[in-house]
Amino acid sequence: MPAPIRPDEAGAAPCDPAHVPVHVGIIMDGNGRWATARRLPRVEGHRRGVEALRRCVRAARELGIRYLTIYSFSSENWTRPHHEIAELMGLLKLFVRRDLAELRAANVRIRVIGARAGLGKDIAALLDEAEALTAANTGLTLVVAFNYGARQEITAAAASIAADVAQGLLKPEDVDEDLLSSRLETAGIPDPDLIIRTSGEQRLSNFLLWQAAYAEFVFLPLFWPDFDKDALRGALEEYARRDRRFGGVMPCPAP
Ligand code: FPP
Repeated sequence: MPAPIRPDEAGAAPCDPAHVPVHVGIIMDGNGRWATARRLPRVEGHRRGVEALRRCVRAARELGIRYLTIYSFSSENWTRPHHEIAELMGLLKLFVRRDLAELRAANVRIRVIGARAGLGKDIAALLDEAEALTAANTGLTLVVAFNYGARQEITAAAASIAADVAQGLLKPEDVDEDLLSSRLETAGIPDPDLIIRTSGEQRLSNFLLWQAAYAEFVFLPLFWPDFDKDALRGALEEYARRDRRFGGVMPCPAP
């Protein structure tokens, strides 16, 4: 049984620290549908999505989450119309430029996963700068998955191991789960405990396929621009009610 949740001074239920997931991954879905439902251009949904992202990072810090990975642009998003891709690139630049100082001051460490190749030089430089300037921070680690695809990540890890085996640096029997994990872009980051997807869709869409092996999933019936602290708290409460067994069994209750 999860521990009871106590009301805080403001009357809202805080999450029991013992049950707060260390690492939360979020698939921020539904920007386009949010905008279409309001007869607005899809890009307006993305703009409002950035505001939701700001709320989310703030709430994650307040609720005690240590790692937050956000799926911002997938390897497959290149198939979108050119102007929408340009808008998403512009929003990333704006987010980093506008928010970097605040994130830095809030002790947030930024890490970026995903292929830098294919991104504009200015964006790649900005992402490098955000990582470098926050590298010594010890609070929330914000992992931005941008131009990211899990299959590509796993393929690259396998290729790097194969190259080491071919050169005699590794033997085939050295290859185990820890070695493969250490070759992923998320090396050093604990696996996600909880993955949240907004918009009601229920799939992973090439997000953290290896790392999510034992993650809990919470699918929220709201579009990403409507995401806020209450939504995150609700997902954490749902997570706290889950029994995580990692393939084992629950201990038998005492007779
Ligand atoms: C999915 O909504 C969202 C994305 C593809 C991008 C997520 C981007 C943001 C939240 C804003 C930008 C933030 C950064 C840091 C770049 P969708 O367009 O697939 O919505 P739909 O499924 O309703 O069409």
